[in-house]
Amino acid sequence: MSKILAFTNQKGGVGKTTSTANIGAGLARAGHRVVLVDLDPQANLTHGLGLADPEHNVYGALLHEYRLKAYPLQENLALVAGAPALSGFEKVKGDELDREFLLKDLLEPIQQRCDYILLDCPPALGLITLNAYACATALYIPLEAQLYATDGLDKVMEMVARVQRRVNPTLTVGGIFFTRFDGRKVLRRETAETIRDKYPGLVLEQTIRETIALGEAPHLGQDIFSYAPTSAGAADYAALVQEILTR
Ligand SMILES: Nc1ncnc2c1ncn2[C@@H]1O[C@H](COP(=O)(O)OP(=O)(O)O)[C@@H](O)[C@H]1O
Ligand SMILES: [Mg+2]
Repeated sequence: MSKILAFTNQKGGVGKTTSTANIGAGLARAGHRVVLVDLDPQANLTHGLGLADPEHNVYGALLHEYRLKAYPLQENLALVAGAPALSGFEKVKGDELDREFLLKDLLEPIQQRCDYILLDCPPALGLITLNAYACATALYIPLEAQLYATDGLDKVMEMVARVQRRVNPTLTVGGIFFTRFDGRKVLRRETAETIRDKYPGLVLEQTIRETIALGEAPHLGQDIFSYAPTSAGAADYAALVQEILTR
């Protein structure tokens, strides 16, 4: 059975999609069979990994219009595409009795065939994110180490506690980690320390540095290990993958 890792934060622009793509690619390079699922209506993960206009996406599969389709990207790595239509999910499915378990049911058959399923969550704590939390083994929360970074974090942690009580008792927080990190900036160092104090044991050691190549790679439809294997971003994500695997 695969582990399901969800990358989540109710804030946008913190590195959820970048982390899903590159941690997924890193796990695949380490020999694990990985399926990525793009749950954001913006479909940044899908486009950033080079799928321009896929015929089948996760929304159509959730609505049972067709079977779940994972497009192969490279050895050990496949992607279930996102779609703008996902923004209508709550409206269409919000009244169904088992509305929070639709993704869980959809992913069950592929859990036998891979080692990790990575979910790229939208920047909101709505029904799509609830579906992700309902089936996840562990949540990973990227944070930009800036002032106010903690506001979003508190909301995520509240939702985790609620989901653990009512929907998914085995859900864990795999870790909080800092992205776009610039250790030279005092403000960022202090924010990181504040969060380490508030959530002891949950903050991962490895941080992801601000790296130009990490912003460029998706424009060429590539992960960081293909695009800039010697960059700081590749080194940081490779080390983060090791930390996730060994923690
Ligand atoms: N470590 C980093 N260094 C430089 N740019 C980054 C880094 N992480 C993310 N970015 C860029 O910041 C923007 C937001 O990142 P993204 O992963 O899309 O965030 P989210 O999915 O949380 O909205 C994107 O343009 C991305 O390329
Ligand atoms: Mg995103």
